[in-house]
Amino acid sequence: MKVGVVLTRKGGNIPNLELYGLSSRVGRPFRWRDSYFYTGRGPLWRFKEMAYARVVGRHEFSFSSTGELPGKVTGLRRRVLSFPSFGVEGSMEREVGWWLDGRVDLRNPDNLIFVYRGRRKYHVLSEARIIRGKDFAPRDARNRPFFHPSSMNARDARFLVNVAGVMPGDVVLDPFCGAGGILIEAGLLGARVVGVDIDGKMVEGCRRNLLHYGVSGAVMEGDAREVDVEADVVVTDPPYGRSTRLTGRLRELYLDAFERIHTLVKERFVVVLPFEGEGLLERSGFEVLGKAHWYVHSSLTRRVYLCSP
Ligand SMILES: C[S@@+](CC[C@H](N)C(=O)[O-])C[C@H]1O[C@@H](n2cnc3c(N)ncnc32)[C@H](O)[C@@H]1O
Repeated sequence: MKVGVVLTRKGGNIPNLELYGLSSRVGRPFRWRDSYFYTGRGPLWRFKEMAYARVVGRHEFSFSSTGELPGKVTGLRRRVLSFPSFGVEGSMEREVGWWLDGRVDLRNPDNLIFVYRGRRKYHVLSEARIIRGKDFAPRDARNRPFFHPSSMNARDARFLVNVAGVMPGDVVLDPFCGAGGILIEAGLLGARVVGVDIDGKMVEGCRRNLLHYGVSGAVMEGDAREVDVEADVVVTDPPYGRSTRLTGRLRELYLDAFERIHTLVKERFVVVLPFEGEGLLERSGFEVLGKAHWYVHSSLTRRVYLCSP
């Protein structure tokens, strides 16, 4: 299916890495079309699960002026009739809506048509989803039964899982799982999740959190440097300290853990680091496929790496 994605405008190349990671595993890499608009092929439902897209839908057609609509709306008209209701949002709502028949439901349409105004053209998406930050709030760190300040918010955890292109049935390992932010998002997408953490309290908390969101998985107490679980995908956010002394020790911890992970992971490794990590990753045997800078505050910019073993 031809999928259209409008990326969010904030966050530097974070949205681009998400789309690249997801599309290169579950479809083919998307092509840039117009301002923040990209198209490609792949399972629509999976792209609708993106974190840093504004709108995702089936790409019906693009147009420059309303005079082109009569020649382009035929397929869309037919598809609209196959849903119980529809609604049109975005730019040119009236102009596009005028051509469509069926029951209109602007609040909760079964088929949302979204018209995105790019710089060059208007782009029409059907079966669209508008993605909002508040969609993720029920799973945010503070709303989980077990809270820990090191835990990642749901939108960011979903972003990492998407960079890895996680699909239903994948075995996803997080060897520094903490309160389980990443595992919850992977589990909700249908992955089989495995978590490891050195801290027994975290392991207990992570189990509680998974249970709360209906995710079944195995969570074990252990050291990431000795983990022994084969996985399709490893997604992780290891601990980071910012003093130089700690940074030295962290580098050793990362290197040992990455070398171990390299022997276990089949498809992809996605990791967040507090410093440039290409050297460490390559020394551990990984090939870096993509990277994004993730601004946290003035003295911390994390790096997100997408790697293949
Ligand atoms: C940044 S937190 C992970 C947060 C997690 N992504 C979440 O959303 O909840 C890092 C975790 O690594 C764990 N950890 C530290 N050293 C470890 C090691 N050697 N092996 C496994 N886990 C370790 C810590 O206990 C901590 O829970």
